Amino acid sequence: MGLRELISKLEDLDVLDGVADRLAGAVNSAVGPAKSLLSGTWLEHPLHPLLTDLPIGCWSGAVILDLFGGSAGADAVDPLVGLGALAAVPAVVSGLSDWADSYGPERRVGLVHAAANVTGLGLFIASLAAGRRARRLRLLGLATITAGGYLGGHLSYARGLGVDHQVFLEKPAEWTDALEADSLEEATPTLAEAGGARVMLYRRGTQIYALSDVCPHAAGPLHEGTVDDDLCVTCPWHGSRFRLSDGRAVHGPASAPAAVYQARVEHGMVQVRAV
Ligand code: FES
Repeated sequence: MGLRELISKLEDLDVLDGVADRLAGAVNSAVGPAKSLLSGTWLEHPLHPLLTDLPIGCWSGAVILDLFGGSAGADAVDPLVGLGALAAVPAVVSGLSDWADSYGPERRVGLVHAAANVTGLGLFIASLAAGRRARRLRLLGLATITAGGYLGGHLSYARGLGVDHQVFLEKPAEWTDALEADSLEEATPTLAEAGGARVMLYRRGTQIYALSDVCPHAAGPLHEGTVDDDLCVTCPWHGSRFRLSDGRAVHGPASAPAAVYQARVEHGMVQVRAV
C-alpha cells in the first residue's frame, strides 16, 4: 500500500470522529477569545506554521549533534531538546486551535498529525532523563515528528487546510454587472455574481460595499453572515469578521483579508470590479 492510499484510508477513518469532535469542541471552548491571537489574524498570516520551525530546528539540531557532534557537541544536546520542548508548547496550542475548525477528513488526519507531534514532544522530554536510552528516544522522537510533519503538509498542500480560499478565484478586473440596483435591499447582505465571481453586496444608504462572498478561511458564504454596526461581516461558519471597507480580517480564525471590490451603480445595475 502506497503512502497516498494509506492517507486516503486515514481520511475515511470515521471511527475517529467521536473523540475528534469532542476534543475539537473542548479546544474551541478553551480557546475562546484567543482565537484571533492563535490563528495569526493580528499578523495577517497563519501563526501555526511559523511556530513549528523552532522546535523542529532545535530537535533536528540536537539529533545531528548527538550523532555527529562528538564530545564538543554533546553539551548542547539537552539544552536544544529542552528549548525545542518549550517552543513546541505554543506550536501545539495554535495548531489545536486551527484544527478545531476543521471537519471530516481534515479533522481525522489532523488528529493523527497532532497525536504524532505530541508523542514526539513526549519522547524528546523523556530523553532528558533517559540516560543511555536517550539517543534512541531522540531518534524515535524525530521520526515521529517527521511523520507528523508529513501529515501536516498533506493537510495544507493536498486538503487546503489553512490556505487562503480566495487565492485561485477569478475576479473581474473591469466594471462588471453584478445585480439590478433595485434588488439590493438596504442593510441586507446579498449574493450576486459578476463575471463568474461570487460577490457579497451590502448597501447602507447610497454607499455600496462589495466583498468576495468566499470566506478566505474555509470558503464559508459571507452573504449568509451578519453585518454589525461597525460595518463588519461575520462569517456564519467559524465567526471570522471582515471589515466591509477594505476586507481586513478583524477577528479570526481567518488571517487573510476578504477580497474587496469597488462598486457603483450604472444603468440601473450594481457593477463591481476588483480593487
Ligand atoms: S469559513 Fe471559517 S470563518 Fe469563514
